Amino acid sequence: MAYDFKRITSEFEISGELLSCERYGEGHINETYLAIFDDNGKEVKYILQRINGKLFPDADKLMSNILLVTEFNRKKIIERKGDPDRESLTVIKTKDGKPYYHDEVSGGNFRVYKFITGAIAYQTVEKPEHFYESAQAFGNFANLLAEFDATKLYEVLPDFHNTVKRMGDFKNSLSKDAFGRAKDVKKEIDFVLSREEYCGRIVDLLKSGKMPTKVTHNDTKLNNVMLDEKTGKAVAVIDLDTIMPGSICYDFGDSIRFGCNTGAEDEPDLNKVNFDIDLFKTYAKGYLSALGKSVTKIERDNLAFGAILMTYECGMRFLADYLDGDVYFRTTREGHNLDRARTQFKLVSDMEKVLPEMNRIIEEN
Ligand SMILES: Nc1ncnc2c1ncn2[C@@H]1O[C@H](COP(=O)(O)OP(=O)(O)O)[C@@H](O)[C@H]1O
Ligand SMILES: [Mg+2]
Repeated sequence: MAYDFKRITSEFEISGELLSCERYGEGHINETYLAIFDDNGKEVKYILQRINGKLFPDADKLMSNILLVTEFNRKKIIERKGDPDRESLTVIKTKDGKPYYHDEVSGGNFRVYKFITGAIAYQTVEKPEHFYESAQAFGNFANLLAEFDATKLYEVLPDFHNTVKRMGDFKNSLSKDAFGRAKDVKKEIDFVLSREEYCGRIVDLLKSGKMPTKVTHNDTKLNNVMLDEKTGKAVAVIDLDTIMPGSICYDFGDSIRFGCNTGAEDEPDLNKVNFDIDLFKTYAKGYLSALGKSVTKIERDNLAFGAILMTYECGMRFLADYLDGDVYFRTTREGHNLDRARTQFKLVSDMEKVLPEMNRIIEEN
């Protein structure tokens, strides 16, 4: 869709003339544009995004979350003598002080961020150093926000990691068995049901207050981290649409779930799907060194379990969708969701076998 970028960007607190505004990056959720301004002879870059209205219909809540977290981070980064324009996203407000602009013409909600200079968001892990640096970035993000009151955040995707509720949904899909598929996947169903005890562990720790409720990012992929283009070191965490209250074990666990798999998430040949404990070590080292002293004992004790839990939860969701007739996750072949569920369960089994070693690695770092 073509937008009137001159008019839209003129709504924001940006000085200078718009020189160009073009599609940018490889994000799949929002529409991202690079807007370049001439401010008295100096080129200044901004990121303009049209927020995905289907996924995030309530832009007020979404942007309230992002503003709270980025403003908190900026203060912390300044206290630590860092560069807040590089190490955090910075929301540019509209001229009437709002964190986004609703464009009546296109019906879209637009926001503007300062452009993080001299940094790259890689699409895939090309070497273990990338994985290590993403661990540093997310560990640092959790460290910066350790004292932030996460209960101030809206749950933009309610019950996202409420594994107890996810189990309820799974059982509903199973009892409906709308496509008569349950009979062919007994082994996988048993795999889920026999581990039901996993579901409440972290949910209960959070509820009882034994584990602190903290900010979780919920999309801890490498392409949501900016790495310095020269040194390759972690600069900032971006893409804050899914920040919510939760446990740091969720973010850690989800990074391990997809980062330590030797195969693809939908690999049909399970011989290719293995849990890579060396990569686990790499991530744990990077994450824990950046977390520093902000991590509590109960969080530490559950980080490795978090990896099992996130992988189990993900597999359970794939299997539920398979039973429902593939309505949620996009599929491109028959049995696609079943293949995905199987890779996750293979990883869960692998991790269960080496859990003591995983915990030892956490202890040593
Ligand atoms: N503030 C920023 N500075 C520089 N590049 C950015 C900034 N925000 C986003 N990008 C680039 O745009 C891409 C997509 O942005 P992102 O917010 O992750 O969108 P999506 O939600 O669609 O994944 C990023 O991977 C990164 O390359
Ligand atoms: Mg992204």
